[in-house]
Amino acid sequence: MKIAVLAGDGIGPEIVAQAVKVLEALGRDGLKLEVEEAPFGGAGFDAHGDPLPEPTLKLAQAADAVLCGAVGGPKYDALPRPQRPEQGILRIRKELGLFANLRPAVLFPELVGVSSLKPEVVSGLDIMIVRELIGDIYFGEPRGRRANARSEREGFDTMLYSEPEIRRIAEIGFTTAVKRNRKLCSVDKENVLETSRLWREVVSDVGKKYPQVELTHLYVDNAAMQLVRAPKQFDVIVTGNLFGDILSDEASMLTGSIGMLPSASLDAKAKGLYEPVHGSAPDIAGKNLANPLATILSSAMMLRYTFSQEAAARRIEAAVKKVLAQGYRTPDIHEPGTRKVGTVEMGDAVVAALQS
Ligand code: IPM
Ligand code: MG
Repeated sequence: MKIAVLAGDGIGPEIVAQAVKVLEALGRDGLKLEVEEAPFGGAGFDAHGDPLPEPTLKLAQAADAVLCGAVGGPKYDALPRPQRPEQGILRIRKELGLFANLRPAVLFPELVGVSSLKPEVVSGLDIMIVRELIGDIYFGEPRGRRANARSEREGFDTMLYSEPEIRRIAEIGFTTAVKRNRKLCSVDKENVLETSRLWREVVSDVGKKYPQVELTHLYVDNAAMQLVRAPKQFDVIVTGNLFGDILSDEASMLTGSIGMLPSASLDAKAKGLYEPVHGSAPDIAGKNLANPLATILSSAMMLRYTFSQEAAARRIEAAVKKVLAQGYRTPDIHEPGTRKVGTVEMGDAVVAALQS
């Protein structure tokens, strides 16, 4: 199993190092993993003048899976758009055809007090957001700047989905729901947008193949509200790129910290890129303060989805649960009465829990 490791910027290298440590610990128990690193994001720009340097893309293409940290930082904010670290992420998703982004929002019972919502609203929360990742207004053409008839500047983007693009992500939504609690909520803005009208039609049509799944539709504004009002009504949510970007950040907060949330971005053959949902947090970079659990949980998703190593994936997830039960907390999830630890100590604790 060949893994390309793209640590990226900010806290990226620190958190990725902990996930690699965990994978290596599993390696000592017989899992055959080969890890190779390459610069990406701002680090890619520093090394090669490109957030997704050619050798990095080649490595990612040749690997079975990609483990990413995070990209971006103030140092790169003033760069022209093609050189910005975010473009590295968007391009690698597109180049690798990673259309299906799975973002689970699961509340560990130990962290119920860290959530900004009342315990009774969030305890037991287990949602899977299936976000389409390489279409929509993120990639639609035309886009750009122009002057209108009054010589005023205009900026414009194109929201666009083709039927096959909607169909394949809907399939992922339904098959994901079949393996869970068989409820799928499709989120759109069908009352306003043409893109969403087609979206709803196609998702409903795909749904005919899955009579065992209860399909519902919500407008995105209502979905945003329902997520904080009564989040446990959701099982699987399927939505487009832009709405999914926003709703997954919102859902992350239900679980207490965005520092807990892993993600998988998959192509049609389950090759995947795995990364935490959070960003590069430049303010705490290099200080041993970052929470590595989202990245460690991302490596569990890698074992599950790309390598079909369900038992190993569960071992990692059980180890994370165990360190939380033991009271280990990075500052983002720290509460009085628990044990505040740094990034490295948290990684060590997970490795120790794996072995016990
Ligand atoms: C995410 C991020 C990215 C996105 C940015 C960094 C381009 O917010 O993965 O959610 O918008 O997809
Ligand atoms: Mg986002």
